[in-house]
Amino acid sequence: MKKPLNIIISIFLIFISSILSAEEDTREKVELPEMMQKHMMSNMRDHLVTINEILINMSTGELDKAGEVAEARLGMSSLESHHASHMAKFMPKAMQEAGTNMHKAASQFALKAEEGDKANAYIALSKITSTCVACHAAYRIR
Ligand code: HEC
Repeated sequence: MKKPLNIIISIFLIFISSILSAEEDTREKVELPEMMQKHMMSNMRDHLVTINEILINMSTGELDKAGEVAEARLGMSSLESHHASHMAKFMPKAMQEAGTNMHKAASQFALKAEEGDKANAYIALSKITSTCVACHAAYRIR
C-alpha cells in the first residue's frame, strides 16, 4: 500500500521543483508591516535551526529528544511563542493553512518519534519539510 503514496509524493515534488526552477517568480507577495516581516523571518531562521537539531538527534538515535524539540519549537505547542494568531491576520487563508499544516506535521512527527521507530519518524520528518517547501513555493513577503 505504500508504493502509490510514494509515487504521489514524487510527482508532487517534481511539480514543486519545476515551480522553484522557473525563471519567473510566481510566488504571491504578501504585504506585512515591517515589524511583522522581521518577526516572521526570525521565526523562519529558528525553524531551520530546529530542523537541524531534529536531524542531529535522529542521527544519534535520540528520538525522544527529536520529538521534544519538534513539539516545543514547531508543533502545536509552539503557536503561542511564534505569536501565530497575531501574524495569521495578515496572511491569505491558504497561507495560514500552510502554517497550520506545518505545526500539525511537527506534532505528528513528535508522536512518531516517541513511538521509537526510526523509519516511521523519518517519513514523518519529511512531511514537516514538505510543508516548508509548499509554503515557500507559493509566497514571499519581500
Ligand atoms: C506559512 C508559510 C511558511 C511556512 C510553513 C514556512 N515558511 Fe519559511 N518562509 C516563508 C516566507 C514567506 C519566507 C520569506 C520569503 C521571501 O519573501 O523571500 C520564508 C523564509 C524562510 C527563511 C529565510 C529567512 C531569512 O532570514 O532569510 C528560512 C530559513 C525559512 N523560511 C525556513 C523555513 C523552514 C525550515 C520551514 C519549515 C519547518 C518553513 N520555513 C516554513 C513562509 C513559510
